[in-house]
Amino acid sequence: MQVLIYSSLPYERPFLEKEAGQHGITHTDQRLSLQSVYLAKGFEAISIFTADDASGVVLDELSKMGIRYIALRSAGYDHVDLDKAKKLGIHIANVPDYSPYSVAEHAATMLMAFNRKIAQSRLLLQLQDYRLDTLTGFDIHGKTIGILGTGKIGMAFARIMQGFGGHVFACDPVQNPKASSLQITYIPFDELLLQSDIISIHCPLHEHTKHLFSYDAFSKMKPDSILINTARGGIVHTEALLHALENNHIGGACLDVYELEKNIFFQDLRDKTINDTMYARLLSNKKVLITGHQGFLTKEALTGIAHTTFQNIASWEGGAAAVHELSIS
Ligand code: NAI
Repeated sequence: MQVLIYSSLPYERPFLEKEAGQHGITHTDQRLSLQSVYLAKGFEAISIFTADDASGVVLDELSKMGIRYIALRSAGYDHVDLDKAKKLGIHIANVPDYSPYSVAEHAATMLMAFNRKIAQSRLLLQLQDYRLDTLTGFDIHGKTIGILGTGKIGMAFARIMQGFGGHVFACDPVQNPKASSLQITYIPFDELLLQSDIISIHCPLHEHTKHLFSYDAFSKMKPDSILINTARGGIVHTEALLHALENNHIGGACLDVYELEKNIFFQDLRDKTINDTMYARLLSNKKVLITGHQGFLTKEALTGIAHTTFQNIASWEGGAAAVHELSIS
């Protein structure tokens, strides 16, 4: 099967080439959109990532060109109109479980780097300023950690926090059977907000989680608490977060994802002006640590993503449903 890989970036190409097997793959660093959809002409399948646009109108165009298969290289599929795909007979498959440790460890890394002020420390060292006055952190040991979403990544993060001696509480409409043996107690969302010193988001973005962290939610959090979001930007109402940070309703935020990240992340914008005042306010706030959606960026995760992507494609080629089929016509 000939596959066009949209949003193909240099760091993942060796992994994709290795796993492609007999499939012919063509890379484009362009994102899938109404403007770039024409590139898919002549292919039977395409592969896309999180910043690609697989909305209804784009799927319509793909369908007209004969695209029958879309292999997502992500777990999340909030950027895909699944109902439309189903109507058009386009098969969609995702990669639900590549290394959850990659994201969980990144969340922990962000928390520790923020808490122990590693970025500031490096800057001060470069200036030969060895005073410690601005670098005080806190122990994770003994702190209350609230986890929103106890799926694969949330549970991996819970184990890391327990390794530090944190007390882990969680909120999830579907309780993970492994949670009780790890002494993880489920509590309602409001309780999680009230009790936690650290809250880490590990649930998907959907209609019930969109802007779940609202003005009201932030007003319930502890004034020194830290919010970690490595899930999806839209779960946090960014204006409300900025308001909470600027009015000391919370102590800090570690963000690997951002509501309007599509316009910013995964691109070289060195010569460009970023016209996003909300983002500029986040970036300049000393209580915010941002990374550009790199939670998944480990060798193990990239291997897993490439492997499952081509496993899905191989199943389609064999006339079967993909291993991780999301939409069958
Ligand atoms: P998963 O499907 O294993 O677990 C998600 C959990 O969230 C489930 O237990 C589900 O019941 C729970 N959930 C759903 N709605 C909820 C709600 N309203 N409140 C609380 N919990 C709720 O997913 P996994 O693999 O753990 O991934 C979690 C999220 O991490 C993904 O949806 C994706 O958005 C994000 N992600 C981020 C990456 C990054 O590079 N930053 C990479 C991979 C995933």
